[in-house]
Amino acid sequence: MTGLWSWRLGVPIVIGLSGSVIATDSGQKPIVDSFTKKNPFDDAFAKFANMTLDKWKVPGLSIAVIDDEDIYAEGYGFATLPDTAATPETLWYGASTTKAFTAATLAHLIDTKEYASLAHGWNTPISSIIRDDFVLQDEWATNHITLEDAVSHRTGMPRHDMTSLRSVNGRPAVPRDIVRNLRNLPTTAEPRVKFQYCNLMFVTLSHVIETITGKWLGDVLKENIWSPLGMDSTYLDLDEALAAPNHLARGYYWDEENEKYNEVRYMPVTEVSGAGAIFSNVLDYAKWVKSLLHKTGPLSESVYEDIRKPRFISGTPSYGRDVPLYGLAWDRFIYKGHVVYTHDGGMHAFGAEVFWLPEIKYGVVSFANTAVSSNAAEEALVLKLVDEKLGIKEEDRIDPEKKFHDAIDKLTKDLDNALDNTYPNRPETPVAPTTSIDKLAGTYYDPGYKNITLRVKSHAKDSTKQVLTGFRENDTWPISFDLHHVSGDWWIMYLETPQNPTIYFRRYAQAEFKIGVDGAPAALQVQFDQSKAEGQNSNKVLFNKIV
Ligand SMILES: *[C@@H]1O[C@H](CO)[C@@H](O)[C@H](O)[C@H]1NC(C)=O
Ligand SMILES: *[C@@H]1O[C@H](CO)[C@@H](O)[C@H](O)[C@H]1NC(C)=O
Ligand SMILES: *[C@@H]1O[C@H](CO)[C@@H](O)[C@H](O)[C@H]1NC(C)=O
Repeated sequence: MTGLWSWRLGVPIVIGLSGSVIATDSGQKPIVDSFTKKNPFDDAFAKFANMTLDKWKVPGLSIAVIDDEDIYAEGYGFATLPDTAATPETLWYGASTTKAFTAATLAHLIDTKEYASLAHGWNTPISSIIRDDFVLQDEWATNHITLEDAVSHRTGMPRHDMTSLRSVNGRPAVPRDIVRNLRNLPTTAEPRVKFQYCNLMFVTLSHVIETITGKWLGDVLKENIWSPLGMDSTYLDLDEALAAPNHLARGYYWDEENEKYNEVRYMPVTEVSGAGAIFSNVLDYAKWVKSLLHKTGPLSESVYEDIRKPRFISGTPSYGRDVPLYGLAWDRFIYKGHVVYTHDGGMHAFGAEVFWLPEIKYGVVSFANTAVSSNAAEEALVLKLVDEKLGIKEEDRIDPEKKFHDAIDKLTKDLDNALDNTYPNRPETPVAPTTSIDKLAGTYYDPGYKNITLRVKSHAKDSTKQVLTGFRENDTWPISFDLHHVSGDWWIMYLETPQNPTIYFRRYAQAEFKIGVDGAPAALQVQFDQSKAEGQNSNKVLFNKIV
């Protein structure tokens, strides 16, 4: 998923010179250039937005169009229920759309030639800058993985998102903690062989930037990009976003059973840093996209060129999009004969989309307040605008929602068949476990993944049965899991996020208890990222029993 989830399928400025603000009868405020008067946010679009939000069960959304020199922005639905409207000013979590700022900032620092440690540009090995902190399990990889490898998701390191913790030794975690934990994490591909989206590597780039500048990444982004562009409603810290003059939207998920929205708590994102900690609004993002389209600064011409340069193949042609190429946190592909740059963002209860088409100097940005379904609604709106701009006839358009329906179908099928996918050859009559479930309870530890603490509880649907359960409350994405017995010492682990118990965050993994010579449980081996929807190579983690 694109997550900071990047929902990677198959596998995530300056306002127009004479802009005037026109109030509509709905009280929302589109910003319209008074000369061109081609505001795409007309009544028909409002109806379409309303229908799309209702269909995907998204409370609210903000959207902006950058059409050459002009910026138009609008809000639909609600930033916070029951009645705080989404507006162009509303603040949202931008999630992985942060990555493009991190990458552009590093490109800028390289371009300034002020930092001796960046003398080799993007080919600089990461370990030459943060030698003690950046250690991978493979010595060659430690010495050779470059900044460009990290920015292109081609290091061989898979997601390992579960290893990101909010606190370390009782204090809030910082990027350095996450980088120092990489040495404990297995890679699942050779370097430069496979595209594996990895948030931890963008945390690593954040740590690189903080190390060479001696400043907090939020300040570096502000100094070099946000302030010069007048992006005054953009932050890298939840507390700053909450204290800001503009309202920060609440996140939600749709509760199918009770047919209502449930609120999801604000998530602190300190340790997520340059991988996805941004808060912003569509007006600020429009300034960013406008600067990318027109190359009007504050970055140099060569940095704007660098941003457009693809580095790695990131997928296969699908849904009318030709081969996607990835570089500096942008996917680049050809759509209907036009170059498109895009990146999405996904959080615990938010979704973001950024699209820009440099040849026609056109872009669309959108934020909304649910996980994944936001991205579906946004892409429906964004691609409608893009298709209209490109003059694509109705019958030649590609249904932008199909991509999401297909992915959700695949995920649903995958979860429904979790047991068969994991254990196709299990015996009809399960083999009895070596030891009692009470003895299996306890705490298991892996240096990379830290603790898994299991206790016994009764099966939710069958009170004659027991399962093992646990909750990692201090994870960046707090996760709970149940282990169900399959056969012998083999179990299946079902994972979910209790704050947002929708299908989008459900996963499963094979789990095996290892029994010591004394007949007592010695370890628990879990094979993460097995879901067929995940698109990454799976990895085994051995947790040794410590309590
Ligand atoms: C869509 O319109 C209906 C009818 O006006 C309204 O009740 C509903 O709240 C709207 N939905 C959104 C997401 O704005
Ligand atoms: C989470 O952190 C708190 C505060 O440091 C601690 O008291 C608690 O035991 C931790 N929970 C787990 C499951 O480790
Ligand atoms: C793991 O659990 C052990 C035993 O309860 C505890 O001493 C240790 O602090 C825990 N480690 C972490 C990182 O939570």
